[in-house]
Amino acid sequence: MRLEDLSVEPTRVTFWGPRAALQVSCPLPGVLRLRHLPVFQHTALGPRELPVKQSWAVVEHPELPLSVRREEQGGVAVVVTEALSLEVSLARGTWRLLDAAGRELARCEAFSGEVMPDYPVDRFRSRLALHAPPEEAWLGFGEKVGALDKRGMHFVFWNTDVMPHHPDTDPLYQSIPFCLGLREGLAWGFFLDESWRLEVDVGAEDASLVQWESSGPELDTYLFAGPMPEDVVRRYTALTGRPPLPPLWSLGAQQSRWGYENAGDIRSVIHGYRAHGLPLDCVYLDIDYMEGYKVWTWDRTRYPDPAGLAREAAARGVKLVTIIDPAVKAEPGYRVYDEALARDFLVRNDRGSVLIGEVWPKPATFPDFTREEVRTWWGRWHQGFLEAGIAGVWNDMNEPACFSLQNGRETFDIRTAPAVHLGKVEGPTLPHDARHGHRRHLEVHNVYALGMARAAYEGMRELAPERRPFILTRAGSAGIQRYAAVWTGDNSSYWAHLELSLTMLLGLGLSGVSFAGVDVPGFLSRANGELLVRWTQVGTFYPLMRNHSGKGTPPQEPWRFGEPYLSLTRECLERRYRLLPTLYTLSHEASVEGLPVLRPLVMYAPGDEEALRVDDAFLFGKDLLVAPVVRQGQTRRLVYLPEGRWLPLFNLGTPGEVLEGGQHVIAVAPLGTVPLWLRAGGALALTEPALHTTSANWSQLTWHVHVAERVEARLYEDAGEGYGESRLTRLRGERVGERFVLERSTEGSLPLARDTETLRLYGLSAPREVVGAREHRMRDGVLELTVDAGWRRVEVLL
Ligand code: GLC
Repeated sequence: MRLEDLSVEPTRVTFWGPRAALQVSCPLPGVLRLRHLPVFQHTALGPRELPVKQSWAVVEHPELPLSVRREEQGGVAVVVTEALSLEVSLARGTWRLLDAAGRELARCEAFSGEVMPDYPVDRFRSRLALHAPPEEAWLGFGEKVGALDKRGMHFVFWNTDVMPHHPDTDPLYQSIPFCLGLREGLAWGFFLDESWRLEVDVGAEDASLVQWESSGPELDTYLFAGPMPEDVVRRYTALTGRPPLPPLWSLGAQQSRWGYENAGDIRSVIHGYRAHGLPLDCVYLDIDYMEGYKVWTWDRTRYPDPAGLAREAAARGVKLVTIIDPAVKAEPGYRVYDEALARDFLVRNDRGSVLIGEVWPKPATFPDFTREEVRTWWGRWHQGFLEAGIAGVWNDMNEPACFSLQNGRETFDIRTAPAVHLGKVEGPTLPHDARHGHRRHLEVHNVYALGMARAAYEGMRELAPERRPFILTRAGSAGIQRYAAVWTGDNSSYWAHLELSLTMLLGLGLSGVSFAGVDVPGFLSRANGELLVRWTQVGTFYPLMRNHSGKGTPPQEPWRFGEPYLSLTRECLERRYRLLPTLYTLSHEASVEGLPVLRPLVMYAPGDEEALRVDDAFLFGKDLLVAPVVRQGQTRRLVYLPEGRWLPLFNLGTPGEVLEGGQHVIAVAPLGTVPLWLRAGGALALTEPALHTTSANWSQLTWHVHVAERVEARLYEDAGEGYGESRLTRLRGERVGERFVLERSTEGSLPLARDTETLRLYGLSAPREVVGAREHRMRDGVLELTVDAGWRRVEVLL
């Protein structure tokens, strides 16, 4: 692909070839945008002008200046920014990405494109091949199956409702074409900002290449500098937006079931939780609350008084969240439909009439969430639900799922519809040629859910400005983290799905989506007590922790399995509530820095081959290593500890002997035990268990500090809801010889809600003297201090 000519503007360089173009710009420090247009026609728009391209994913940024120099030798032009430079070969149209130290991060081997003739709507095959050195690992890609390192896999990005799905099913519900390359400890990132159907081959077809393909006319890509994986994730989330801080209650335990049929069922679930002394913050209402599956309605025979039910739940510390599906039943006289039809808000079919399909409602139509006026209208529908006291919404079936299509008087199962034979439908959804205004479904399918979640988020922000919206979504695409939490859809009560949940959530987290969870202990199939316990142990650390199950499966509330499972599950839920100060702080960190709550071990050991291969353990934040048992019958497991020193703190209880990292150890973990290690220099802020959340200005707080030469930790506190005052506390410690000093500093005006704090200092022997504490004592070999809540400095002399 020849690019013989270039035009230079202060913030853009464009390379022009006879039938192609490449434009380079810099939206953020350490980020380059490369628009590859392989089938570009100059004449269509006049010379030297690229089409305006809308991005659904990227948050608007002013372009930064860049410079370019032409090197006579080798026909190369180099675009230079502060952190990155790009060497473009004019003869071949390929490029190399270099960091500020001149190290090659990435190389494009080719890009090309063709129009697919004979296809009923515009469809292209635009391709880009990246060089994949043998030692390079490829992480991220959003909600995908497989190991952490996706090398050797092939993925499709096409949001799909798959029930049931298996540990190798692809595609699933989310499409996030972002990945990190990691080689010899050096990380960089790549994002393909296209809403069209995409594919990526991660060295499966040709081990030396990662090949991307879009069905759209261009490849709009972003390249991110590292050097650490953290830096790449920070830059990617600066580009596509960071998740808002969720309301505290949404981090509590959540219970759901497709099968709670009426208000009585909801009451008895809440009663069950309280009667068994189990923490609970939220119950979901699945589709049966609606009248005939009509969205924004209530079945008044099953739910005669939704507001009364919400009040009763609130009195027991429980919020209600309702499912909201996008499909609108086509039924004259039903207001949602009448309005949508009258205002031309519905997706149309190829012939231009309103597309009629079937989902839960039959017949069904689909609002076109790609349009702003439709989103605004949809957003306002949340009003009645918010007024009834509903705390949040659960957006499901938003790929969008569509089971059948109607054509005149005939209805076709989507799998046998004539459109399928024409290759125009993929998965149970709308046909490629369905019309969203001037766009076809093939182009905007993957962003349908993003639009719907955005409508909900913006609507709720406007209707209840004093509250933080809570939206849970099944489908999504790059940027979904700005609006919603994600759960990974219809998994099953298989051990394999428990294990898979770790790499899936790690992949999502690296791809910007931190606030995510999977159905505990599996949506389909049959769980047993052991699986419930092991899955809830892991769920304790999921940013979103929800027990959910499908219609026709055995009920899965914690008391359904008898003892010892009930008590062991209670322990997990209590542990979750103890962890909330740390989880809330990590959620805050996600909202300001974009870093996920769950992080792969390799994140802080990027050059460590062993850490890279760990798919069954993860870090909760930076310092807590979680190595849960995810295999049936297992009571011990192998754990890899990366470099550093690690304090065993199983079940957040009695500490064990500190171990050196860089080795494998065997953790003994009978049912009821979760192996945990705290990194030297790290600390956890824990509170006491409670039956539900109240405020994130903790009235009881214990710091668990693993003393080392340096200690660093933080705690973010506020009311747990709304946008009021906050307080960010930082701990900094230093150990020199026989002296350990720990200092506390704060920012923000939130007044303290406690008189004292406890400091548990691991790794110190009985002291000669402690300065700055009210009391100190040795307990189980741990030095424990009681300090005034407003403490600034403690000093321990050994
Ligand atoms: C879908 C959802 C599931 C929900 C069900 C009924 O299968 O993934 O969570 O319970 O629909 O609404």
